[in-house]
Amino acid sequence: MLNFLKGNWYWMLGVTALAGYLGFALQGGAEQVLMPGITTHGHYQIELDCAACHTPNMGVKQESCNECHAEELERVDDSHPVIKFKDPRNAERLAHLDARYCITCHREHQPELTTPMGLTLPADYCYHCHQNIAEERPTHVGLDFDSCATSGCHNFHDNTGLYERFLVEHLDEPDFKPDAYLRVRDYYLTHFGERGEALEQARAEYPHELKVSQDILHDWSATSHAAAGVNCRACHDMPDAETGVMVWVDKPNYESCQKCHDYEVKGFLEGKHGMRLAHGMSPMTPGMARLPMKPESAHFELSCMSCHSSHEFNTTFAAVDACLQCHDDQHSTAYKNSPHFQLFTQAEDGLRTPDEAVSCATCHLPRVEVSKFGETLVRVDHNQNNSLRPNDKMIRAACINCHGLQFSLDALADPQLIRNNFNGQPKVHVESLDMAREEQERTEASRR
Ligand code: HEC
Ligand code: HEC
Ligand code: HEC
Ligand code: HEC
Ligand code: HEC
Ligand code: HEC
Ligand code: HEC
Ligand code: HEC
Ligand code: HEC
Ligand code: HEC
Repeated sequence: MLNFLKGNWYWMLGVTALAGYLGFALQGGAEQVLMPGITTHGHYQIELDCAACHTPNMGVKQESCNECHAEELERVDDSHPVIKFKDPRNAERLAHLDARYCITCHREHQPELTTPMGLTLPADYCYHCHQNIAEERPTHVGLDFDSCATSGCHNFHDNTGLYERFLVEHLDEPDFKPDAYLRVRDYYLTHFGERGEALEQARAEYPHELKVSQDILHDWSATSHAAAGVNCRACHDMPDAETGVMVWVDKPNYESCQKCHDYEVKGFLEGKHGMRLAHGMSPMTPGMARLPMKPESAHFELSCMSCHSSHEFNTTFAAVDACLQCHDDQHSTAYKNSPHFQLFTQAEDGLRTPDEAVSCATCHLPRVEVSKFGETLVRVDHNQNNSLRPNDKMIRAACINCHGLQFSLDALADPQLIRNNFNGQPKVHVESLDMAREEQERTEASRR
């Protein structure tokens, strides 16, 4: 305990000394220069918004982390929530590693210490609190502490794809399930609670002085929007900022879609594609990215329209070709050589149903079940980070629909297979299921 206080005290001294200087310097708008080091992969898009994490005196606001992340950690049933460590019975465990504070494990501006997921602590840290695990669990004898959190075993927060109970439910599944298919998207209910009457071209409503091409009218009339009675003005009329009167805008943004698609807009704003917009910053562009992007897309501004190009709202285009306008890393470009892409083209050719196809979106914008007002509907999760890292999150969102759990865990633990976009058999074997089986047999034997 004393050690912790002392560390914190020095730290506070440093920050207070810095604060006077920073408070002065920040007024000059030289924020970037003042950063002690570059920010993490997760936050660099919003790094110039210092106030998102810092107090005016440049201390770190602990509650800031929670403002943005509490909901997500709660949804995934965080197995080490802060509340667990406020319990006095766990006080002793905090002497070496104070898990009440996010920044004990996730510091910023420390590129030389930072590993994936903004982590800034050595890989064997589970040791501090679970030294005795091998005594409690014979399956864990001889395991190194830096192996607890490798993919397929445990995560510190989100274990939704790894809970022992879940493992036990999915022992001995075939690699390829015979009834492989995706959840079918539910028809969208409008904000009026039901679908409107289908509209034809002649009933399009827009200001008569506006020059409208035949293409727009045609594209709109062929969409599910027209079929569900969503007329031009439903998207194009927005309240004037001053008077509040509805006026026609030529290029509606996400706020217009939000009127009816609040779930999709929320996901988009929380993820890497929309997080800058959520902070009132200019839209993200591939030119600003750290990941490899196609040079010709450098100036594309990210919005709903990046994937749902105007008026067609073609979800097949959105699921693959839209992504490949921008993304240019090895994994993304390898997709078109994968067995999954073959399923996708077969579905386009009518040889399979669309629900057997695996697109980029199947894994990165998965169809998930959302409950609202006691009703469960299948929706598309537009925050790709919800299934990206740690990557075993993708199991429940996608793989388990079609593959056995062992195969999915092995594939996701094989970096080469990720790089070539799942073209071939996994070369890695994750032992979690073997251990779960052993543990199950042991408890059954002891009961007998
Ligand atoms: C996503 C949250 C986040 C953003 C945005 C952010 N910081 Fe930080 N910053 C932190 C955290 C967390 C620490 C604590 C690091 C530590 O304890 O090592 C920190 C520490 C600092 C420190 C103290 C360094 C030290 O060694 O004690 C300074 C100075 C600082 N930040 C400046 C800035 C400036 C200037 C900006 C805006 C341009 C900024 N930060 C944006 C999270 C952030
Ligand atoms: C203003 C909102 C905001 C604040 C404040 C904020 N974050 Fe984040 N954070 C995000 C967004 C957006 C992402 C990227 C999407 C995602 O990974 O969910 C992210 C990503 C992350 C990641 C994952 C990085 C990755 O590579 O996958 C971690 C870890 C994280 N934040 C921890 C923290 C901690 C700790 C703090 C407090 C010091 C904090 N965040 C403050 C919005 C915020
Ligand atoms: C700061 C202390 C601390 C650290 C560090 C820590 N744990 Fe825990 N862990 C706990 C506490 C407290 C519990 C509650 C149950 C208990 O008392 O054992 C727990 C429970 C668990 C459980 C079982 C409960 C559940 O809900 O899933 C697992 C599995 C687990 N930890 C794994 C890990 C792994 C793996 C790491 C490293 C990645 C880790 N822990 C790091 C304190 C810690
Ligand atoms: C004892 C260390 C530790 C503490 C304390 C901690 N984290 Fe983490 N965090 C991790 C580790 C390890 C990972 C990597 C993935 C995993 O094991 O769950 C991670 C991953 C994350 C991620 C990205 C992955 C995901 O599951 O979404 C977010 C966001 C995150 N932490 C936020 C927070 C916030 C907010 C706090 C404070 C309430 C916090 N963390 C406290 C160790 C910690
Ligand atoms: C589902 C929402 C939606 C509906 C319905 C809709 N639009 Fe649009 N429209 C948009 C968006 C979003 C843009 C901006 C596209 C961009 O930013 O590139 C746009 C752009 C336009 C433009 C600007 C010119 C251009 O280059 O495309 C015109 C004109 C237009 N729409 C007319 C219409 C007409 C006429 C209808 C009805 C027949 C209609 N829109 C129905 C969302 C909609
Ligand atoms: C007035 C309500 C309303 C507005 C505003 C609206 N939509 Fe829709 N949207 C709907 C309805 C209703 C459907 C059709 C539901 C169905 O048939 O499943 C739909 C369907 C969609 C689909 C699925 C299309 C398909 O073929 O499966 C996409 C994508 C979409 N909307 C995107 C947008 C975007 C982007 C915006 C903003 C530019 C927007 N919508 C604005 C009501 C709206
Ligand atoms: C990165 C590309 C991308 C962006 C950006 C994007 N979408 Fe989508 N969206 C998709 C894909 C792909 C699908 C279809 C997935 C499927 O069929 O499983 C989809 C489906 C939808 C649907 C269909 C219904 C559902 O169940 O969710 C709606 C509505 C929608 N998007 C609205 C929006 C809105 C509003 C925005 C902007 C806030 C947006 N999308 C931004 C790729 C994108
Ligand atoms: C207009 C360009 C554009 C389009 C279209 C686009 N993306 Fe992105 N995407 C980006 C940018 C820019 C980032 C942020 C990259 C970074 O932070 O380095 C990003 C981030 C991501 C990430 C998060 C990567 C990470 O490491 O956190 C994933 C996953 C992703 N995109 C998948 C997709 C998929 C799947 C589609 C199609 C459904 C798509 N993108 C469409 C530009 C685009
Ligand atoms: C079968 C599922 C699957 C498919 C299909 C898929 N991905 Fe991925 N993608 C993953 C996994 C798993 C990761 C790695 C996550 C991790 O461990 O960091 C990943 C990582 C990424 C990243 C982050 C790369 C990085 O270096 O951080 C991007 C961007 C991305 N995918 C885009 C795409 C695009 C674009 C497509 C389609 C052309 C696509 N993915 C198809 C599963 C998939
Ligand atoms: C909609 C069903 C579906 C989903 C979801 C799906 N897959 Fe597949 N996957 C298949 C089918 C079917 C094949 C076999 C295609 C063939 O051989 O023609 C396949 C092939 C593969 C292969 C190549 C096997 C080989 O022998 O070449 C790997 C690896 C793989 N999938 C991993 C994954 C992972 C990991 C996920 C989740 C991130 C995933 N898949 C999601 C249906 C799916």
